[in-house]
Amino acid sequence: MMEKLIIFDTTLRDGEQSPGATMTGDEKVRIAQQLERLGVDVIEAGFAAASVGDFLAIQKISSIVKNSTVCSLSRALERDIEKAGTAISAAARGRIHTFIATSPIHMQMKLHMTPEQVIENAVKAVRLAREYTDDVEFSAEDASRSEPDFLARICEAAIEAGATTVNLPDTVGYAIPEQFGSFVRDIRTRVPNSDKAVWSVHCHDDLGMATANSLAGVHIGGARQLECTINGLGERAGNCPLEEAVMAISTRSDYFQLQCGINTKELVPTSKLVSTVTGFPVQPNKAIVGANAFAHASGIHQDGVIKARQTYEIMRAEDVGWAKDRMVLGKLSGRNAFKQRIRELGIPVTSENEINEAFLRFKDLADRKSEIYDEDIQALFAPSGSQPLSNYYGFVSLDQRSETGERPYAKVVMTEGGGEVTTEAFGNGPVDSVFKAIEAHVKSGATLDLYAVNAITGTSEALGDVVVRLSLGGRIVNGVATDADIIAASAKAYIAALNKLKTVSPMNAQLAEQTP
Ligand code: KIV
Ligand code: ZN
Repeated sequence: MMEKLIIFDTTLRDGEQSPGATMTGDEKVRIAQQLERLGVDVIEAGFAAASVGDFLAIQKISSIVKNSTVCSLSRALERDIEKAGTAISAAARGRIHTFIATSPIHMQMKLHMTPEQVIENAVKAVRLAREYTDDVEFSAEDASRSEPDFLARICEAAIEAGATTVNLPDTVGYAIPEQFGSFVRDIRTRVPNSDKAVWSVHCHDDLGMATANSLAGVHIGGARQLECTINGLGERAGNCPLEEAVMAISTRSDYFQLQCGINTKELVPTSKLVSTVTGFPVQPNKAIVGANAFAHASGIHQDGVIKARQTYEIMRAEDVGWAKDRMVLGKLSGRNAFKQRIRELGIPVTSENEINEAFLRFKDLADRKSEIYDEDIQALFAPSGSQPLSNYYGFVSLDQRSETGERPYAKVVMTEGGGEVTTEAFGNGPVDSVFKAIEAHVKSGATLDLYAVNAITGTSEALGDVVVRLSLGGRIVNGVATDADIIAASAKAYIAALNKLKTVSPMNAQLAEQTP
């Protein structure tokens, strides 16, 4: 029997700290359900004290998720811990994750605390957290730049106070794999009660080494929990991507001698869901979940794979969730074939009604597009766009005209609250005219930071996947929408972003204000 590696996913917390990745409560619930299906051991569902929205999302996820532990982050502050404890109270298994910075630079410049005060706060926080749950994680923020003697002292004190997991984050992505692995091993060796807790690593990707550092922390350092996010989403350059760490552990089990409980066939569907919700596209050459990760272009490679796939493939595409048969449905396909495909793709549907509505959208698409790929079907269930979850504004219809030598013009019919409004404008291009028309009515004052269009599949009749990033008063949101008509997709994505600006609370801004 190989030893177990606990997979701790923080897409909904650290991942959400990526500028523009703010998610609505409904979107978080949807991702949490998919993470449970993926088989992650711990879902860090948010930071309960950061905003009412985060608190409610953690509460909801705690009441729905049954097989994964649900966790809330909290600073080492009484108020934070109380909020975290209340938010996870309905969970079948709930964890409080409390943290305080331990590096000289953070203690002096950010916390303005002496090392003794930091230890005192950590111990108090862990003790209070234990009053809410038996499962308490303590993180020494910026551990990789902390003094080893002090770090060992605070970890010992946290375990003594009741921490059951101790996490050593490389908060600023400064570590080098071999050094980080030895560092984790060294700290564990110095802590007399180290066997009373599970040791964990949490690495950021500022130097592109988050996966390598995490794996070194596990293999050399002996950590048995790995913290990661889907697609490597996260603060600044992101966190260790779950899909990379998990596939390294399983593909090279001869080396790591560890196993984790991840259902790897859910990796690609999870990656797509997170990408759709956040509007962060996955680069085509991204390991495991990128569109080209299993594509062979050179003749020599193709020849080798045809003769024996192991010549150039160390993993099987279908084992990480890429569908084998990518072109299956069309105009003549029936409801049963559609339903079967939904099942194969692992799309979470909750009712027959949801399938019926999606089937109507499928038929409508099939009228406009002869070949329907798996990606198109996944897009039919995308949580934003044609069916925005928080829909103060809605898209109804669009009339856009462009002619060489003339200024592009757009008339947009949209809903606001319950009513319908028509708005129009000229612009510098077809998309600009649509955005100007919407703004002529809404007057949000938001700045357009990013506009991106991707073709979901490879043909000219492909669905267009549009991301619109808006910022307003320090808040950054992404709107995502899909349509065979990219101008309509652009209007829908813009409207989805406006809806998010109306509903999502500015977690990062609030935290900056509250940091001691
Ligand atoms: O990067 C970090 O140090 C963190 C902690 C809160 C665990 O995200
Ligand atoms: Zn982090």
